Amino acid sequence: MTKQITSFSDYQKTYKDSVKNPEKFWAAQARTFTWRKKWDEVLSWDFETPDIQWYKGGQLNITENCLDRHLKRRGNQTALIWEPNDPSQPHKSYTYRELYEAVCQCANALKANGIKKGDRVCFYMPMVPELTIGVLACARIGAVHSVVFAGFSASALADRIKDSSCKMVICSDYNQRGAKNIPVKDVVDKAIAKKCKSVETVLVHQNTGGKVKMKKGRDKWWHDEVSRRRKNCDAVTMDAEDMLFILYTSGSTGKPKGVVHTCGGYMVYTCFTFKNVFQYQRGDVYWCTADIGWITGHSYIIYGPLLAGATTIMFEGVPTYPDAGRFWHVCEKHRVNQFYTAPTAIRALMAMGDHWPSHYDLSSLKTLGSVGEPINEEAWNWYDQHIGKGKAPIVDTWWQTETGGIMISPLPGMHALKPSYAMYPLPGVQPCLVTAEGKEIKTKEAEGLLCIKFPWPAMIRTTYGDHERCKQVYFSTFEGMYFTGDGARRDKDGSYRIIGRVDDVINVSGHRIGTAEVENAINEHDSVIESAVVGYPHEIKGQGIYAYIINDRGVDDVAAFKKEIHKVVTKVIGPIAKPDLIQVVSGLPKTRSGKIMRRILRKIASGQADSIGDVSTLLNPEVVKEIEDQQKLAK
Ligand code: PRX
Repeated sequence: MTKQITSFSDYQKTYKDSVKNPEKFWAAQARTFTWRKKWDEVLSWDFETPDIQWYKGGQLNITENCLDRHLKRRGNQTALIWEPNDPSQPHKSYTYRELYEAVCQCANALKANGIKKGDRVCFYMPMVPELTIGVLACARIGAVHSVVFAGFSASALADRIKDSSCKMVICSDYNQRGAKNIPVKDVVDKAIAKKCKSVETVLVHQNTGGKVKMKKGRDKWWHDEVSRRRKNCDAVTMDAEDMLFILYTSGSTGKPKGVVHTCGGYMVYTCFTFKNVFQYQRGDVYWCTADIGWITGHSYIIYGPLLAGATTIMFEGVPTYPDAGRFWHVCEKHRVNQFYTAPTAIRALMAMGDHWPSHYDLSSLKTLGSVGEPINEEAWNWYDQHIGKGKAPIVDTWWQTETGGIMISPLPGMHALKPSYAMYPLPGVQPCLVTAEGKEIKTKEAEGLLCIKFPWPAMIRTTYGDHERCKQVYFSTFEGMYFTGDGARRDKDGSYRIIGRVDDVINVSGHRIGTAEVENAINEHDSVIESAVVGYPHEIKGQGIYAYIINDRGVDDVAAFKKEIHKVVTKVIGPIAKPDLIQVVSGLPKTRSGKIMRRILRKIASGQADSIGDVSTLLNPEVVKEIEDQQKLAK
């Protein structure tokens, strides 16, 4: 069994051991899984190249560990509970055996449609059980899944399909979210029409039964293809370092990059962190509200919980439909023991009033989790008092798409908590703070740029199709270290507080958005000459998107212009990237070499114009005053 830490002193000892002898520590964790061939070497690494290999020579299949391994002892235990968008509809449950059979059927269907080991399969689906089943079916036959959040536009989907030349797209007919009915298949058609030549098959899951167009020879129904297949399917043998999945995420420059995770290390790490951070006990019901389109859903709805033999909930809906009590209703209904969500949801629900949670029995909750962005103290306290009733510790978990699993987190019930602190590095994680010049700050109490100086099993291996980019973005800023892009503070007791991104990435409602991407989208509007996008503090979303735009025709009606900008951003990226505020400007502050000074724009957007400092060295200092004066015109 994967080690489960039971006390703070146990943590301290485990941590010490894991740093002193990482290979020994991670070999012990790996031994608890089913391997078809044992590894020859636990770890070989070089951060310069980068070349990181865990469990080299080892062979396995992750689904054998998620499913087959549990059949004997917990074949009849519930593996997955699916809670639909509409609460008047029944929920669905799958035991481990049922999930195993469903995955095997789908895996056989994928094979029958020509999908082989190494092929990429794109998912563009709502939160329905078939998404989990499809993802695991890929892993079972060694196909690489690339799940794209179903809120992205056709154009963003096309970019992702093309970047990894996916052979198949799996989608639904429609997506029901709250009161909305989103035409998913239609978006897929539009995406493929953008020269996605690699796509041979589109497998369509009938979700709502709404009308869709099916292209002969290319489009097939899930129910025709999957249901008639055999309920067992041999798992393909994978090398520990074979690719398991690609997940696209935004950076400070260029297009989103495909973060690559591999089989062995990801398996060991997600299971270990799941069991320890949530202190999952046999029989518990665990619910993570994330979407599988993001890393949180991959690691802590699907893989971590299933590897640990847990019961995991998948939720199709939104926190406020049909009303602001929905989360708490689901917690009561399924007697949820561990609940994991994002601060933005907590803030939104907090704003709806304390009476919502008070209607429900939340006594089953043992641990509460937070992820994706810093949680402010007010939201932390509300979560603690109104949801956990002061009895369920909050684990504020810091990690990233690239880290694959949770890196810094409290261990529930084992030490005192500090609101807004992610607290301690998990065993095997060696964080450090460095100065802008790359010097490690050794004092206990410190503030700096957060780096990780030793590999951990679930770390990013490459960015798909562009290894150099992986090297440049993560391993070149500071020699010999993985750079997270976050700033952090460390207290004298060694606990960490994440401050937020220090690069041009903004975190809107826990969604990571590159400012360059939004600017590129805005610039597609035919009257836009140039734009600059920054983040600013937003009460509910954490950060909002503020766009400064130069328009060649001048703008009389900013509200109408904003609508046009929203339209173009929605088309290029998706509604999640729509600017919250738009300010039309005559120029953007630039250095003499022509670089936009986003630092100044960030200050103005955050209402801190008085701390901008000297601007006299700018190419166009006069524009700063003008932007400041006209800020009130922003809409
Ligand atoms: O800035 C950090 C923030 O989210 C970024 C990673 O985003 P993404 O790859 O989309 O993954 C989100 C879910 C793991 C980080 O660089 N972040 C994540 N968790 C926290 C956080 N910021 C503060 N506190 C956290 N607990």
